[in-house]
Amino acid sequence: MKKITVVGAGYVGLVTAICFADLGNDVVCIEKDDSKLNQLSRGILTFYEPGIPELLQKNLGTGKVRFTNSMSEGVAFGDVIFLCVGTPERGDGSADLSQIENASREIASSITSYRLIVEKSTVPVNTHQRVKRTIQRYAGHDVPCEVASNPEFLREGSALEDFMHPDRIIIGVESQRGKALFQEIYQDFSCPIIYTDPATAELVKHASNSFLAMKISYINMIADLCEKVGADISIVADGVGFDKRIGRSFLNPGIGWGGSCFGKDVKAFIEIAEEYGVHFGLLQETLKQNYERRKSFVRKIEDILWVNNDKVIAIWGLSFKPDTDDIRDAPSIEIVRELLKNGAQLQLFDPVAMDNFRILFPESDKVHYLGDKYDACQGADTLVILTEWKEFQSIDWPRLKKSLNLPVIVDGRNLFKPEYVRGEGFEYYSVGRK
Ligand code: UGA
Repeated sequence: MKKITVVGAGYVGLVTAICFADLGNDVVCIEKDDSKLNQLSRGILTFYEPGIPELLQKNLGTGKVRFTNSMSEGVAFGDVIFLCVGTPERGDGSADLSQIENASREIASSITSYRLIVEKSTVPVNTHQRVKRTIQRYAGHDVPCEVASNPEFLREGSALEDFMHPDRIIIGVESQRGKALFQEIYQDFSCPIIYTDPATAELVKHASNSFLAMKISYINMIADLCEKVGADISIVADGVGFDKRIGRSFLNPGIGWGGSCFGKDVKAFIEIAEEYGVHFGLLQETLKQNYERRKSFVRKIEDILWVNNDKVIAIWGLSFKPDTDDIRDAPSIEIVRELLKNGAQLQLFDPVAMDNFRILFPESDKVHYLGDKYDACQGADTLVILTEWKEFQSIDWPRLKKSLNLPVIVDGRNLFKPEYVRGEGFEYYSVGRK
């Protein structure tokens, strides 16, 4: 078992720290934000993620993980230092690497003996070279360190399962010494482990996220076509997806992808490719199609309601996907904004994301937050579904019908079988189905 330092207690960093600790390693996690540090040290999670609060408490209790704001303490502690800081989007779509650069400079001022520094954050290809150069430059002498890439593929909402049981582990490392450290860290994992050079590993992450985004945009386009010609997208997705070469997952149509990763990563990948002279029109179209989708969904609602002004609309689901309170780049944001612009009155419900949403859209005469899915429908002219939370799938249909002013459902996530819902006496509109 190793001594591991994790820099950054955001989504990836915290899950990485806690999971490595739970696997038996000793972990120090560095977090600069005082209030976050304070909460984490007391076992309080700063975001919603199933399974992680329990694991945090357990590993704090056994002393396997601890939190600090001191980089020098972290650098002195870990044989391996995982960089898990944010790489947000800059105005031009490229990745803002200032947190990576800052961490590299801080490492430079504390490092005295060999350390394996590992990028887990999603970074543009060849960032490892810059990290290494920055450490050497600011240390002022030849520092005995190595920079490797080990991208993370966990999804919000299933982060624990994804970390502990990944489809694959990608490791870009140059030396045998570095490779041996990874072999120890990942000795209990049974998935394929691919060893390669750091640039290739960095590229795998951007290529994976972009492909997934493209896959969803593709099925969404087919869904549009299905609607026009009267075909059924769920059958088309099955028919296409059961071809093993394609795969059925990520072929669920809807209101488009969101979240903190796909949009940011696709844009950054386009920028990187352009920088190296490769024009990525395929991804530009993926982006365009995805963001237009939010507007076309609003047009669909308006078409159904005819005039939006003063209509009461119930909305189920605000997070960008189920099992998370994350609303970053959530389609709900633009859909709510457009509906409000057109004069609608909204009654919103989400099992966990309402506090985050309230920051963007405070309670007002047009925006109401309700504590229960049925309350949100009280007196509404239509119910709009934006996130496929499990609890939206079990419905007391007579109760729902009684709550709504009109029995109309516009489902952006295809939660139900159309014949069934219509059989319950509802007008039901979904994506890519008759
Ligand atoms: C994504 C990747 O799936 C992870 O592998 C990666 O590690 C992560 O980004 C990251 O880079 O950190 P995440 O953004 O948490 O994970 O969520 P996904 O499950 O990929 O969903 C992204 C969006 O696609 C959601 O808005 C979801 O509703 C949408 N989606 C997904 C669809 O519209 N249809 C589908 O079939 C699947």
